[in-house]
Amino acid sequence: MRFNGIHYRTIWPDPQDNRQIRIIDQRQLPHEFVVETLTTLEETIIAIREMHVRGAGLIGATAGFGMYLAALAAPSDGFSEFMTAAGQRLDASRPTARNLLWAVERVLQAMTQSAEPEEQRRIAFATACAIADEDADFCRRIGEHGLAIIKEISRRKNGAPVNILTHCNAGWLAFVDYGSATAPIYAARDAGIPVHVWVDETRPWNQGTKLTAWELQQENIPNTLICDNTGGHIMQQSMVDMVIVGTDRTTHTGDVVNKIGTYLKALAAYDNNIPFYVALPSSTFDWRLDKGHDVPIEQREEEEITTLSGKDTDGKTRTLVLAAKGTRALNYSFDVTPARLITGLITERGIIKPEKEAIHRLFPEAGQHQDVIFQDRL
Ligand code: MRU
Repeated sequence: MRFNGIHYRTIWPDPQDNRQIRIIDQRQLPHEFVVETLTTLEETIIAIREMHVRGAGLIGATAGFGMYLAALAAPSDGFSEFMTAAGQRLDASRPTARNLLWAVERVLQAMTQSAEPEEQRRIAFATACAIADEDADFCRRIGEHGLAIIKEISRRKNGAPVNILTHCNAGWLAFVDYGSATAPIYAARDAGIPVHVWVDETRPWNQGTKLTAWELQQENIPNTLICDNTGGHIMQQSMVDMVIVGTDRTTHTGDVVNKIGTYLKALAAYDNNIPFYVALPSSTFDWRLDKGHDVPIEQREEEEITTLSGKDTDGKTRTLVLAAKGTRALNYSFDVTPARLITGLITERGIIKPEKEAIHRLFPEAGQHQDVIFQDRL
């Protein structure tokens, strides 16, 4: 994606010194574009837990590089025990996004090709780079597949702008490049199809306000910010042609776990006969779980709900207290959208119904390499 006309990925090793992993500190957006450097496993865990980086794909790519940084520090004697413990610590940093454990296991699995620590460090780096490259490539392909849906809606509207509603940020910032939900939008723009995006603000962390609206502006995609409660109303007013969201974990039966509030958008779309698509790379599938309700749902601090922070007009970051002292808040970060409310899953291999048979038909190799190293809590 471009920022100020320059193409960036959201994570990259320094080309002069690959022991330094660069990320964009997303807590500073949209006001400041701050590049941060990770050099240790501990810094990587903090970056994931405290949401310097976020979004399923980027959490996975960051975990891959975190395993490489851990490998650099691992003692030759006790190397594999150290790496298993590093993987468990990374996995515990955020509980919901499937890509995190997937990436940790992939690096651990790849390192079993050698028993020599120096070679294992080289493998860890190569695997982390492969995870990042693959994430970008899969999102690009999601864009190509999703484009067909937007094209068809545009044809039916005789070329009038296609209005797409999205929730949270499943854009470039949530992945390594392109994004999942945004990739079809960028592909439509490149194909000359006029699009307009309704951006849910996405309380409490405001990923829509702070990230998605900014990201779309960087790419010159017309967009309008709406508060989370507006979606149902504008769907009733025929102002939404389709919904595309991302997902943090999708069961192999098609249930989707995504940012809190996604379920309500799916219900409203269903009631108004509006197609509701979920875009995901296959790294987000959980091949072990049958039910979305078995996915661990992260709960975050109450202050994210009772306060609001942002830049004041003097340029200083300030936090405002909204709620009365002592107000209790319940801050679930994700919810479950059952497969029956979803029109289709847009994956790197094509678009499928959110059904077990269709998912396994498209990914016949699925689940063969899972849990080879250590059994995670679900
Ligand atoms: O808490 P976050 O910001 O890490 O949540 C992830 C999200 O941005 C969304 O739920 C997104 O749609 C799925 S991640 C591609």
